[in-house]
Amino acid sequence: MAFKNDQVSEIETAKILEIAREGILRDGDFVEMGCYKGDTSLLLAEILIGTNKRLFIYDSFEGLPEKSGEDESIIGKDFKAKELFVTKREVKQRFLRANLPVPVIKKAWFKELSFNDLPEKISFAFLDGDFYESILESLKLVENKMVKDGVIIIHDFANPALPGVAKAVDEWNMDKKLKIEIFKSMAIIKLR
Ligand SMILES: C[S@@+](CC[C@H](N)C(=O)[O-])C[C@H]1O[C@@H](n2cnc3c(N)ncnc32)[C@H](O)[C@@H]1O
Repeated sequence: MAFKNDQVSEIETAKILEIAREGILRDGDFVEMGCYKGDTSLLLAEILIGTNKRLFIYDSFEGLPEKSGEDESIIGKDFKAKELFVTKREVKQRFLRANLPVPVIKKAWFKELSFNDLPEKISFAFLDGDFYESILESLKLVENKMVKDGVIIIHDFANPALPGVAKAVDEWNMDKKLKIEIFKSMAIIKLR
């Protein structure tokens, strides 16, 4: 099924799905932190049909949080608190209308989530929270759940309008020194 993706470019979406498909072969479930309307989530749900894997998606469903100082950028003035608002109900309805299995949908600020809110093992994680704190919190939530060779994709790593994303990833990776592959705006990290 061809779903329109407002937030992620076509070429990035194709890469996400290519990597996610490889994730089906590993142990562990799929996670998306910052799902917004569910454009990417719908595509992930579609490729999981017929597998034993579950999709877990997370969002405040209150739009973006406040920026921190790490996120300030002259060209990123558009990203304001409460933008990208959608309700959890609307997202759930999209899955039902598309006749796709409804994922586990959690409404929370990432900082309110505990490890119990995430699957036990994660094979593939897509982090798309736009801001420094959102990305750092997401990384800390998924890092110890990732299976060997599991992949984390972080959107907007190379997006100058959202400088907090790269700051969060680089800070998190400082002691880990994991290889970061960059594809368009995305950072792709394979866990060892
Ligand atoms: C760019 S949108 C996500 C787009 C989506 N991944 C897609 O592919 O269509 C960013 C989303 O992250 C959510 N978000 C950002 N920071 C968050 C936080 N700290 N806690 C919860 N949700 C957050 C926003 O509410 C927004 O819906």
